[in-house]
Amino acid sequence: MTILYPTTNQPVPALPAVEPPSGAQRPRLAFLATGYLGATYAICYAELGYEVLGLDVDEAKVAKLQGGQVPFHEPGLDELLRRNLAAGRLRFTTSYDDVAEFADVHFICVGTPQRGDGMGADLSYVETSVTNLARRLTRRALIVGKSTVPVGTAEWVEQLVAKHTDPDLGVEVAWSPEFLQEGFAVEDVLRPNRIVVGVKTDWANGMMYAVHKGVFDLAATEDREVPLVITDFATAELVKVAANAFLATKISFINAMAEVCEVAGGDVTQLAKAIGYDPRIGNRFLQAGVGFGGGCLPKDIRAFQARAQELGAGEALRFLHEVDLVNLRRRGRVLTLAAELLNRPAGPAGPDLSGTRVAVLGAAFKPNSDDVRDSPSLAVAASLANAGADVRVYDPEGMENARRAQPTLTYAKSMADAVTGAELVCVLTEWAEFRNADPQALGDLATKRLVIDGRNCLDAVLWARAGWEYRGMGRPQPRR
Ligand code: UDX
Repeated sequence: MTILYPTTNQPVPALPAVEPPSGAQRPRLAFLATGYLGATYAICYAELGYEVLGLDVDEAKVAKLQGGQVPFHEPGLDELLRRNLAAGRLRFTTSYDDVAEFADVHFICVGTPQRGDGMGADLSYVETSVTNLARRLTRRALIVGKSTVPVGTAEWVEQLVAKHTDPDLGVEVAWSPEFLQEGFAVEDVLRPNRIVVGVKTDWANGMMYAVHKGVFDLAATEDREVPLVITDFATAELVKVAANAFLATKISFINAMAEVCEVAGGDVTQLAKAIGYDPRIGNRFLQAGVGFGGGCLPKDIRAFQARAQELGAGEALRFLHEVDLVNLRRRGRVLTLAAELLNRPAGPAGPDLSGTRVAVLGAAFKPNSDDVRDSPSLAVAASLANAGADVRVYDPEGMENARRAQPTLTYAKSMADAVTGAELVCVLTEWAEFRNADPQALGDLATKRLVIDGRNCLDAVLWARAGWEYRGMGRPQPRR
């Protein structure tokens, strides 16, 4: 199969054959930290035929994974985990010694959360994992960053490695961002739409090729091409944050249009459809609603701004501040709509919803995920409760995480349980269960037929015909 540079369409020159330092036929891979990113990669690369070791400092998590249980909800991953554990290609450990001894290529997959004291990224987990690993290496190896980081981190990691390893070993660093979306993570790893690799030497390049050969081989059997972008450290780091900044901007763009539609009487769903037919715009990521959340987009656009500011290019990314503000305003819009529907006038401190009962359907930041990090649904549920409403939250997969994140909210056992006795139903995550719910049956459980469709995911006409007063995001009220 020919690999092409996407920009020039020129074939990538033949890469040098590189022997894995362990002497194994294919490079042995380690994934440091088995959170969402590391566990998914570890399992999928074992599925591609590599020998894989996953490391985590959390003993309970390692025991769970080693016992065949994925600690989070991701469609298809459990089965792959069990299959590859049984095949003997996949193991999990808490020991850095074990990892240093085993692998040729070490992927750093630790979290880089927003810092407590500002918008920048907290790199302490990157530092700890790289240092702990580097100190133990006794032969040549490649350390590859996968975590989303501020540009310049790979150079710093290289310095850390130089400080903690014997220079004669020739340990090197590379950077290869990931683009996996929760809910589609298995596909995104096995069949990525591109692979980006930041390298400095032919050896690192050859090693990275060997690491991704399983992906290229699978693509070849399916008659697909996977574009490979080989670049420098800074570009590899920037690709990831630029992609996320673009996606966040696209969502906030359509949400800004929703705001305009609300005052002008337009319908943002039709507007999105109409502009999306232009292939230069495209129709994906144009769903107006309560906005983006999750463990990536919100924190990444903030960290990107903070880093650009440090580098003297703060002005270039000032628009991302606006992207953030549009996004957060959408959460407030649900509160305003709730007050309007429940006939509660809002004072300067916001509406008083005391004495009302509200069902919130959805806690995860998006469907097919149990992740509630920076979830718009849960944030809105909390602000409805703060405004005095008696809120009952239900989510098909996110209940356990939601309870941990917002312990003071009340949680329902099922959709029907949440809706029973509610005056207002807010659909804030577009799970299929909610989209396909029968408005007639739900209407019989609620005390009033008032609904806010925070994701524009319901059939507005169907709900209106079933007697519901419907409010979408950036849409006029449907005719009954
Ligand atoms: C994102 C990127 O898509 C992925 O490439 C990167 O690796 C990690 O961050 P993820 O956080 O899994 O992935 O979710 P994504 O599907 O991008 O959705 C993010 C948020 O945007 C969700 O809250 C979703 O509901 C919201 N969204 C998405 C919209 O509000 N409208 C849209 O049109 C699309």
